Amino acid sequence: MSETGRHADVPEETLPSERETAHVSVEKAENPFADPGLPPHEHRIQDIDERAAKRSERVVALQFLVSMLATVAFIASYVAVPVDKIVYIWPIGHISALNFALGLSLGVALFCIGAGAVHWARTLMSDVEVADERHPIEAEPEVKAKVMEDFAQGAKESGFGRRKLVRNTLFGALAMVPLSGVVLLRDLGPLPGTKLRTTGWKRGVRLVNQSTNLPLRPEDIAVGSLTFAKPEGLEDDAEDFNVQIAKDALMIVRIKPEDIKDKQELSWSYDGIVAYSKICTHVGCPISLYEQQTHHVLCPCHQSTFDLSDGGRVIFGPAGHALPQLHIMVKDGFLEAASGFEEPVGPSFWERG
Ligand code: FES
Repeated sequence: MSETGRHADVPEETLPSERETAHVSVEKAENPFADPGLPPHEHRIQDIDERAAKRSERVVALQFLVSMLATVAFIASYVAVPVDKIVYIWPIGHISALNFALGLSLGVALFCIGAGAVHWARTLMSDVEVADERHPIEAEPEVKAKVMEDFAQGAKESGFGRRKLVRNTLFGALAMVPLSGVVLLRDLGPLPGTKLRTTGWKRGVRLVNQSTNLPLRPEDIAVGSLTFAKPEGLEDDAEDFNVQIAKDALMIVRIKPEDIKDKQELSWSYDGIVAYSKICTHVGCPISLYEQQTHHVLCPCHQSTFDLSDGGRVIFGPAGHALPQLHIMVKDGFLEAASGFEEPVGPSFWERG
C-alpha cells in the first residue's frame, strides 16, 4: 500500500481521480439509496385480448365447479363407502377406503377454491403496478379514507360485480365446502333411546361368572376379590353377545357389611356382596381395577374412580354419575337379580330423566 492508500499493483490510469471520487461521495451523501424505479410494465395477454380473458374466466369457473363436485363426492363417500373397507393405494399401502375418499375429496374441494382464486387474481384482476413510498406507521384520517377508497376501487377492478360467472361459482364452492363438516354430525348419533334402559337383567336372572360360565354362589365371592358376571342365558357365541355384554357386564365385590356406608346399597346387597355395572358412566369403558382396602374401582380410560362402599359414587375423574347398582338376592343357593337396573347403564351424557 502507498501513502495515499492505493495498492501498488493497480495501474495509476485505471483508478478514479481524486475529483471523481469526491463527486461520487457527495452524490452518495445526498441520495444514499437511489430509487431504481419500476421496470417497464408488460401487459398480460388477458389485458389485451378479450378472448383470452374469457378463457381465463372459464378456467377459474371450472376450478370452482370441480370444488363443488369434490364436495358432492365427499358427501357421497361418507354415505356410500363402508367404514371397514380397506383398499391398497400405491405407494401408501393398505388404508381405509373411507378415510382415503374423504381426504382426497375434501383436499380437492379446498385446493380448487384456492387455485381458482389465485388464477383469478393473476389473470383477471387489475394489473396496475404501484410503488408505495414508506410512510409513518400511524395512519392519518385522510390515509384511512384513501385506503377505503382504494379498497372500493380494488373491488370494482377485480370484476367481482361484472364477472358474474366467476363470482357465482365462487359463492357456490364456498357455500358447499362447509357441508362436508355438516355430514360428519352423523357420527354423533343416533341417540340410544331406551336401549340403555333395557339390559338382560330382571328379577330371577342368575349371576354367572364370566370366566367359568358357572352360576355364582355367595361362597364363591371372597372379601377383597373382584368377579365379573353376566346374566344366565347370555352365551359367549351369541350373535349379539358384544352388544349385550356391553350393557350387562357386572362387577361383584364382597365388602364387610359394616363397611358399607350407603343404606340403599346395603339393602340391595347380600351379606356384603354388591353388584355394580361394569360400564363406566363417563364414556362407557369397562372398569377393571379394584382397590380392596378402599373399595375404590378405577376406570383405566380417564381415571374416573368410584367408591363401591358408598353407592358407587364418583370420587374422582370426569364421570358424571354414580355406577348403577343391581339389586341382588339369593335363591336356591345362587346369586340372582332381585330386579333389573333402575337407571340406564353406561355414559352419563345421555339424558337420564
Ligand atoms: S370412560 Fe371411564 S373415565 Fe372415561
